[in-house]
Amino acid sequence: MKKDSLNIIDNRTGQQYEVPIFYGIYPAYGAAISASALRAIKASPQDFGLMSYDPGFMNTACCKSRITFIDGERGILRYRGYPIEELAGKCSYLEVSYLILNGELPAPPQREEWRQQITHYSLLHENAKQLMEGFHHDAHPMGMVVSTLAALSTFYPDAKNVHDPASRRLQTYRLIGKMPTIAAYAYRHNMGLPYVYPDAELSYTGNFLKMMFQRLEARYRPNPVLERALDVLFVLHADHEQNCSTNAMRSVGSSHADPFVSMAAAAAALYGPLHGGANEQVLRMLREIGAKDKVADYIKRVKAKEVRLMGFGHRVYKNYDPRAKIIKKIADEVFEVTGRNPLLDIALELERIALADDYFITHKLYPNVDFYSGIIYQALNFPVEMFPVLFAIPRTSGWLAQWEESLLDTDQKIARPQQVYLGHDVRPVDALSEAA
Ligand code: CMC
Repeated sequence: MKKDSLNIIDNRTGQQYEVPIFYGIYPAYGAAISASALRAIKASPQDFGLMSYDPGFMNTACCKSRITFIDGERGILRYRGYPIEELAGKCSYLEVSYLILNGELPAPPQREEWRQQITHYSLLHENAKQLMEGFHHDAHPMGMVVSTLAALSTFYPDAKNVHDPASRRLQTYRLIGKMPTIAAYAYRHNMGLPYVYPDAELSYTGNFLKMMFQRLEARYRPNPVLERALDVLFVLHADHEQNCSTNAMRSVGSSHADPFVSMAAAAAALYGPLHGGANEQVLRMLREIGAKDKVADYIKRVKAKEVRLMGFGHRVYKNYDPRAKIIKKIADEVFEVTGRNPLLDIALELERIALADDYFITHKLYPNVDFYSGIIYQALNFPVEMFPVLFAIPRTSGWLAQWEESLLDTDQKIARPQQVYLGHDVRPVDALSEAA
C-alpha cells in the first residue's frame, strides 16, 4: 500500500525509522520531510542525533510560503498564483506590490488608497537627507541605500513593534514609499545635483524618473514608453521566493529586529555580484568584450573557468528564466525611443554562441533576468552603479511580504543553523602558552 512516509534504516544500529512526508499544493513539486525528524536517529542514546548537511541550502525548504511559485524546470514564475507574463502585461508595479503583500489584486478603491499611502510616505526626513549628504562624492549608491535603510531605523523607533499589524503596515508604506527617494538621492549625490522632492501627481516609476533626471525643466514629464518599461522591470523584480536576499530578510527578521535594519541586511545581500549585483557585472563584461568578434574568445575563457558569464545561469531556472524573455521584448520598445544600445549586439551574439555550445547546454546555463535588464537600464540613462539599486527598489515589496509571512508563521523560530564541527578536540591553553 502507498504511504506518505519514508522508511530509514540506520545501518549503524539496524534500527528502522518512519518519517512522514508532507506536500505543498503540487505533490510533484514541494514534497518534504521535517529535518528535525532526523534528530531521532541516533547511534547511541547520548548522541545529538542526525542532521542534514546542506551548504547554500541546495535542497532545504526554510519555510512554507503562499507568495511566489517557481518551477525552474518549466520556466514558471507566479506571484500569488498569477503568471508573471500576465502581471507584466496587465498590471502596474504598485498593483503587483499590493498583490504580493495582501494576496489579492486591489479593487479600484483599494488601489487608490494604496497609491495615496505610498505617495504620502515618499518624503525622506530632512535629517536622513543630510545624513546622505555626508557620503563621499563617489560613494557607491547601493552602499548609500544600505546605510540609509539602517539609519532610518533610528528615525522610526515605533518600527520595533513588529508584532503589531498596524505598525507593520505603516513601515510597509514608509519603505515602499521612500525607496525610490533614497535611490534617486544617492544618484544625485554622486552627480553633485540638488535633490528633487517626490511629485504626488506622477506614477510610482514616473516620480522616480523625475527625481532621478529632472534638470532645469519647470515641469518634468517622463516618456510614457520608458516609464512603462521601467514599471514592467519593477514587476519582474518584485519577488522571487527564497533567494539570498529574501533569506537574509527572513533570517534577520527572525530575531524580531525592525524591518528597516532587516531590509538593510537584505539589500546588502542583494548587492553581491552573484545576486542583484550581477546586472552591473553584465554591463562591465559587455564593455570589456567590446565587440561582436571578440565574443568567441570570451566564451573560451568562460569554459576554461577563468571568468563567469555574468547574467547566465540560475540556481532554480534550468531551462530559461521567464523574466529574461519578457525583458527581451521590452528592450525593442525602449530602443525605439532611445536608439539602439550597441552593447545589445554583443549580448545577442553572446547568447547565440552560448546557447549552441555544449558547455552551456550540459550545465543548463541560460540568460537570467540580469542579462538584458542592464542594457535597458543603460538605455534609460542609469549609470551601472545604479543597477543593483534598481533591483532593490521593487524587491522591497517581496522582502516585506516574506518578512511578514515569516513573523506570522507559527512554525518559525529564530534562524539558527547547525554545523558539523571539524576543529580541534579540547586542548589546554597552558600547553599553548608554554609552546609560545
Ligand atoms: N558562467 C559559467 N559557468 C557557470 C555559470 C556562469 N554564469 N554559472 C554556473 N556555471 C557553472 C559552474 O562553473 C559549475 O560548473 P562545474 O559543475 O563544471 O564546476 C556549474 O555551472 C554549477 O555552478 P554553481 O555555481 O554551482 O551553480 P549555483 O546554482 O550555485 O549558482 C548562480 C547560480 C546564479 C550564482 C551562477 O549561475 C552564477 O554565478 N551566475 C552568474 C551571476 C549571475 O548572473 N547572477 C544573477 C542570478 S539571477 C538574479 C538573482 O536572482 O539574483
